[in-house]
Amino acid sequence: MCGIVGYVGSRDAAPILLNGLRRLEYRGYDSAGIAVFDGQRIQIRRAVGKLQGLIDQVAREPVHGHIGIGHTRWATHGEPSVRNAHPHLSQNGQVVVVHNGIVENFLALKDELQAEGFTFRSDTDTEVIVHLIERYLEGHGMGIVEATRRALKHLRGSNAIVVLAATEPDKLVTARLGNAGGITLGFGQDEMFVASDLPAILEHTRQVAFLEPGQMAVVTREGAQVLSLDGEPIPYEITTVPWDPVAAEKGEYRHFMLKEIHEQVRGLTDTIAGRIEPSAARVRFLHLEATPEFARRIPKIFITACGTAYHSGLVGKFYFERLARIPTEVVIASEFRYMDPIVPEGAVVLAISQSGETADTLAAMEEGRRKGATLWAIVNVIGSQAMRMADGYISMQVGPEISVASTKAYTATLADLYMLALYLAELRGTLSEAQRRQLIQDLLTLPDLVGETLQREDQYAAIARRFVRAQNMFYLGRGINMPTAYEGALKLKEIAYVHAEGYPAGEMKHGPIALLDENFPVLALAPRDPWYEKMISQVEQSRARGAPTLAVATDGDDRAASLADAVLWVPETPWLLSPVTSVIPLQLFAYHIATERGLDVDQPRNLAKSVTVE
Ligand code: AGP
Repeated sequence: MCGIVGYVGSRDAAPILLNGLRRLEYRGYDSAGIAVFDGQRIQIRRAVGKLQGLIDQVAREPVHGHIGIGHTRWATHGEPSVRNAHPHLSQNGQVVVVHNGIVENFLALKDELQAEGFTFRSDTDTEVIVHLIERYLEGHGMGIVEATRRALKHLRGSNAIVVLAATEPDKLVTARLGNAGGITLGFGQDEMFVASDLPAILEHTRQVAFLEPGQMAVVTREGAQVLSLDGEPIPYEITTVPWDPVAAEKGEYRHFMLKEIHEQVRGLTDTIAGRIEPSAARVRFLHLEATPEFARRIPKIFITACGTAYHSGLVGKFYFERLARIPTEVVIASEFRYMDPIVPEGAVVLAISQSGETADTLAAMEEGRRKGATLWAIVNVIGSQAMRMADGYISMQVGPEISVASTKAYTATLADLYMLALYLAELRGTLSEAQRRQLIQDLLTLPDLVGETLQREDQYAAIARRFVRAQNMFYLGRGINMPTAYEGALKLKEIAYVHAEGYPAGEMKHGPIALLDENFPVLALAPRDPWYEKMISQVEQSRARGAPTLAVATDGDDRAASLADAVLWVPETPWLLSPVTSVIPLQLFAYHIATERGLDVDQPRNLAKSVTVE
């Protein structure tokens, strides 16, 4: 979950590292640090809290050199503090390490190292790595590459590291063990970059290579050599990333989240473009193909994902079952491998992940692979592990999503799932050409409808101000908009710290309605979909219990207007696509409540963008 960056070249390393960390702060913001070799020795600067603390410290105590590493931390072992901040230095001061992941056997290794005389200066699991490297460097007279390789052999769990040694200050050694976060190598002109995520290096280069789990690399300013953990050279491919570096900037917006909410028109346009052939009523994907025989024999699709991506999967179930008539089960990724899923022959496991690095989602994919399923993925981050593990993938066309709260990736995924269902429907013959044509026409109207919805931001903000003091909220939905209720509630929880529960509306009378009173607002998802009547009656019932009521409703809906205390209006949308337009007021509602409360929307407490640990 932490962010890692490394640089070797002819420029001053510290500003490059700090700038890289600035773009990685969404990975964790408990502490940050850099280490630079200044020609004599390794200089470390570390600060607890957000990156600005480190930037201030480096301004007070500058550090200069042409090689260095940096880290922004999401604490797993040891509280957020300077002593636990990375980089961690070896006892002899010759080696420094940044790390992402968890060393599962760190207690045993710590005992072993302490018995050998190593003194630990932090509570982190990372420190065992740097002491192990020193053990091989000092005790066995090895070079840094071999010493790191030997040290890695001791580690259990998923880990990614970058190592710098004062004894060989022309190189960085990096490695990836398991799925905990990727390592990207960036190729510049006579300079090289290492990073956990693309945004850290995009402004310098778009020529990149990705380490696979179980690989390490020796990086000098001239380039990189990739090795297996047995030290064997491995050929690799350098790819050009299509992302525009400006996409990772906030621009005129106050927060990345707001920018990304407003990028949804563009994201949906790019998602649809190139995949639809309206004249032929066909959908095609570049990296996901199936034969009619394969599609007809799919007995079941498992959709597996976490958080917002899981919510999109719940909508996907509707699409696959209604349009392609394929039984679909949506499973929270952290549960998938523990439920011993019954995966019939020919089944597909479809993973959804913005980052493509979520540890639980990757583990669910592995479980699917073990059980013989075909693996498909919908992912945003290019070169991510999910993308590379999948037999076929759909690449979200939304550019980097920086805000911890996912928005544009959600709506793009809904469009991807809709198109995937249409594709399978064609292969399986479950919809006529006329039906497919109509559904495609509906999809083509979506970017404009989303644009129209976004223009109402001021209305949504005004309503948010009225509810800014709410401590609790129910978000109720039914049918295809039940996941919208879950997603809206998650947004409010994660950025505004309001206890919000997404709940199936029909279940309220089986218990939760007891909670309602004048301090417990209820937001009902009541766009014009087949569950509209039920949802309107839900508004009535909540009102009868004295709860303040809000509704997401379609323009011109007089009943909603007369019943609810506040209406978040959305334009008339084909009902299968109503989860896309209906979620937008909820994203903006949460955003404006959070900003009204003076909260840090892009970096909510305790969270990190990519959850690369279990
Ligand atoms: C969304 O707002 C969350 N921050 C979170 O639930 C996220 O969707 C989840 O962690 C999954 O991430 P992924 O899509 O990168 O796998």
